[in-house]
Amino acid sequence: MSVEERAPITPQQYEVLHGGGAEAAEIAKQRLSRRRFLRRSMLAVWGLSTTAAIAGALDFLYPTLGGSFGSAQTVGKKTDFPAALPLDFAIDIKGIFHKPVARTYVVHLAKNTTYSIADAQLLKDQQESEFWTTDTTDGTQWLALYQRCVHLGCTVPFRDDCSSFKCPCHGSHYNVDGEFLDGPAPRSLDRFQIHFDDGGNVIVETGIINQTVPHPDTSTRIIPVPLKACGAGG
Ligand code: FES
Repeated sequence: MSVEERAPITPQQYEVLHGGGAEAAEIAKQRLSRRRFLRRSMLAVWGLSTTAAIAGALDFLYPTLGGSFGSAQTVGKKTDFPAALPLDFAIDIKGIFHKPVARTYVVHLAKNTTYSIADAQLLKDQQESEFWTTDTTDGTQWLALYQRCVHLGCTVPFRDDCSSFKCPCHGSHYNVDGEFLDGPAPRSLDRFQIHFDDGGNVIVETGIINQTVPHPDTSTRIIPVPLKACGAGG
């Protein structure tokens, strides 16, 4: 047992044991208490710093372990996301839904959507390469687009007035399915894997991202370019 951990003695006991004055014993006791307090404070600070550093490292190395962005996010039931044709999209009403918890726009396209690619197999291949998910129960199509502009990272709003995403920072413009339309962005919007569970929940895998969808050309563009121009403002 260390000196600091022994039960404190009274000034009178100190005087009997050591022959010193009660006043000297009181001073010694106060110094001991101060030292103990400082040592415990330093240990507490060190403990907190170490815990925070370890938690940060684990979050960086294993982002899918937690329930936050970087892991699977349940964003609602399928019935919370009514499908629509691209020109009828209305944010958070039909066709397109912003889910900040997953930093995602959930896109739900109606079965009778018109596509630019006529060949069914080519269309399917292109959709799969761009992380589209087919709901086999009703033939509708789903996408989970990352809200972050691939130019310099601003959050891109969806514009009902022009049926597309228009970045307020430098004007990058993306179609309803995230395909690049114009502006300085180097590629189309990034997207996450999206799927459903047996209970009809919609799950966005924010740890599984596709950052490789290039500018489309006439053979790879999936959704026709919208004809409505975006007005000024946001
Ligand atoms: S950050 Fe979106 S266009 Fe620059």
